[in-house]
Amino acid sequence: MTSLFDPIKIGDISLANRIVMAPLTRNRAVGGIPTATMAEHYRQRASAGLIVTEASHVSAMAQGYLDTPGIFLAEHVEAWRRITDGVHAAGGKIVIQLWHVGRISHSSLLPNGIAPVSATSTPAKTMTFTRDGFVPVSPPRALRDDELPGLVAEYRHAARCAMQAGFDGVEVHSANTYLLEQFLRDSINDRSGPYGGSIPNRARLLQEVMQAVTEEVGAARTGIRISPMTTFGNSSELDSNPQALYGYVVEQLAPMGLAYVHVIEGETGGPRQPEGAPEFDYAALRKRFPGAWLVNNSYTRITGMEAVASGKADLVAFGRPFISNPDLVRRLKDNAPFNELRTDKLYGGDGEGYTDYPALAG
Ligand code: PHB
Repeated sequence: MTSLFDPIKIGDISLANRIVMAPLTRNRAVGGIPTATMAEHYRQRASAGLIVTEASHVSAMAQGYLDTPGIFLAEHVEAWRRITDGVHAAGGKIVIQLWHVGRISHSSLLPNGIAPVSATSTPAKTMTFTRDGFVPVSPPRALRDDELPGLVAEYRHAARCAMQAGFDGVEVHSANTYLLEQFLRDSINDRSGPYGGSIPNRARLLQEVMQAVTEEVGAARTGIRISPMTTFGNSSELDSNPQALYGYVVEQLAPMGLAYVHVIEGETGGPRQPEGAPEFDYAALRKRFPGAWLVNNSYTRITGMEAVASGKADLVAFGRPFISNPDLVRRLKDNAPFNELRTDKLYGGDGEGYTDYPALAG
């Protein structure tokens, strides 16, 4: 029987175990530049089979929260290089999550204070974190079709920067109602033309982004993250037919030879089966993809071990447990207790609640 602690090769990336550190936004990249404290944080967690970095914006327009890291300038590449070097020296593997927030942003975070861009001009009903604290997101401007090649080029450039920075690969963020999902879902995408309407049209931008990114990085070093049932509390943002939409998406990805698909099961950071939400058949989704299948959302030691032993998944990503336990792999193996999570230190700040969680002695 396969164990969570067994090695695995996903695409071209060889991992020491099947335990993945999930992408976790921590807002500690001062002015978008990764710091030495971030390097220490990631190095401490290098015993994960794979680290997926916090979401990192692919351009200035792709940023939606204060002090998230970028991956498009020479300064970003140089700073991330210190992080990848540290993780590799400690024996780990690390991919960077490529992110465009679309309409989940605020003008104060964007160049010259302009409006965020999206598939739609309808604002999201949510807040973001700016220099002035939590504020409602700004009304977006709907992208014209003729701007989309430029957007794809931003992903391509960021993917190239990621490889220059020494990453083992990239994960395209197509989850959590950010830009790519704003195009995918019929509850958000109100376009006509080649990028709106039918499922193939709504999935077109993602397809073009994946094409560009895999051309830069190689498909065998490219993963993708999806979240078919995530609403962040706005159930009206669910697609009208998630099973058909995400089934199509995965089917389109299947022949590309990707390193993995990473699926958030249920409500991100919340219940796996939210009350009143339609059920989603994740097993049916997996059947459409021949490569490595990475699952996430509230897995525990027991359910994570079961997921891999049963063959339901090839790998399991842990989020919050990795924040408070740099040596999570050892604790899972030894069935050791976890450190308590300091929820007041999640976003922003310094090493407190970030690099000061102790590892087990000995
Ligand atoms: C957040 O900053 O709250 C955040 C970022 C990326 C995600 C989800 C949430 O995918």
